[in-house]
Formats: sequence, structure tokens, C-alpha cells
Amino acid sequence: MYMQPLISDTPRTPKNPLRLCVFVSGNGSNLQALIDAANAPNTCFKIALVISNIKNTFALGRAHAAGIPAVTICHNDFSSRLDFEKTLITQCIDYHVELVVLAGFMRVLSPHFLSYFPNQVVNVHPALCPAFPGIHAARQALARGVKYAGCTVHLVNEGVDEGPIIAQAIVPVYPDDDENRLQKRIQIQEHLLLPKMIQEIAIGNVLIADSEICLRKKSDPVI
Ligand code: GAR
Repeated sequence: MYMQPLISDTPRTPKNPLRLCVFVSGNGSNLQALIDAANAPNTCFKIALVISNIKNTFALGRAHAAGIPAVTICHNDFSSRLDFEKTLITQCIDYHVELVVLAGFMRVLSPHFLSYFPNQVVNVHPALCPAFPGIHAARQALARGVKYAGCTVHLVNEGVDEGPIIAQAIVPVYPDDDENRLQKRIQIQEHLLLPKMIQEIAIGNVLIADSEICLRKKSDPVI
């Protein structure tokens, strides 16, 4: 099977970085992890734009503090999902966005949006997908009594927290865990995994054929 890099115009370099738009809805700790990573010397991606669908989020403050363009596009201000998504798309085009990263973005994107960015929308979810989609993933994990939880970075399709898996990180669940403790343990892994995988995408190490994804091994020749 012929596998090709997720973003065709790769590998990128720190001087020619992959342009991201990060979609957020709240705290923005994953956005912060991306901001910190983007400032590191060898990073091959840059955050061109942040979009929040909720007004006055903490995430917007993080973007402003980092000097990154940030806008609020609130879904409630539109009469239809199509109009909301058309505005998202226009903003992304204006900022020459090449990869959309959903970092705690609590809206499902329709096929209309996804068709504009084929294989170019990535999500982070605090569970070992396909387990526990939607909200309160850590609560769902505790309720099911799982012994291991974790997080997933995946390509987005029209389902909820669904799509080809790029990478996962695992954490143990302890008998005395509550939701807060487990969520924090998972988030520590999210903050490592998400920037790491965006960097791998930017340097052309994430390969796709149909809906199958694999990571280029370091020993593989560059195509
Ligand atoms: C993160 O844990 C992210 O994985 C999760 O929301 C949190 C946002 O935190 N996303 C989902 O649950 C998607 N279904 P943050 O705003 O601090 O990055």
C-alpha cells in the first residue's frame, strides 16, 4: 500500500513552518502546550490563528498573551451550522491555514467543513478512542472501572471524537482516583502528545493511505 504524508507539502522547517489554526472552547491548556512548543527552536509549525466558539475564554487570553491572532466566532450568533462553519472556513483561508487543531473544541464539525480540509483536521481527546467519546471522558472511564485510561490524537471525521488514530498515550487508573485526579494525569500526557504529533505531521512523518495512518520509522528513507 502506498502511503503518503498527511500534508503533501512537507517536510517543513522552522523557517517554513506548517500554519495551524487552533479551535478552542475553554481553558486552553492544550493550546498553551502548542504555544510553548511553537516557541522552541526546532519546531516546524506555527499557530497562525486561534478561534474560540465561546466568548471570553481563558484560551483567548493565552493567545493574546502570546501575540497570536485570535477571534471569537460564536455558534450561537448564527442561524445555521452551515453559516457558522462558512465563517470558520473564511477565517482559516484568510490566515492561510494548513492544519486545523481541535484543542478542547466542543462542537462537531460537519462534512461541509471537513471537505475543505481533507485529512487536515486533528483532534485531541482524553480517552483511548474509540472508548468514551464526548464530554466527561475521565468520568466515563471511572464509571466503567477501566484500569488504564489515556488520550488520543486523531484525524477528525464527522463522528464525535472519531477518525483515524495517529497516536495514543496510556495512564494507569488507581483505585482511589477521582475524576479530577484522573483528568489531570491524562492532561499531562495530552500536553506532551499533541505538540509531538503536530511536529511529526509538519516534518512529514505521519503517513496515510485510505483511512490508515502510520508513523514513519526513523530508519525509513525519505520519499
Ligand atoms: C482536553 O482534555 C481535551 O482533550 C478535551 O477537552 C479538554 C480541553 O482542555 N476534549 C474533549 O473532550 C473533546 N471531546 P483545555 O481547554 O485545557 O485544552
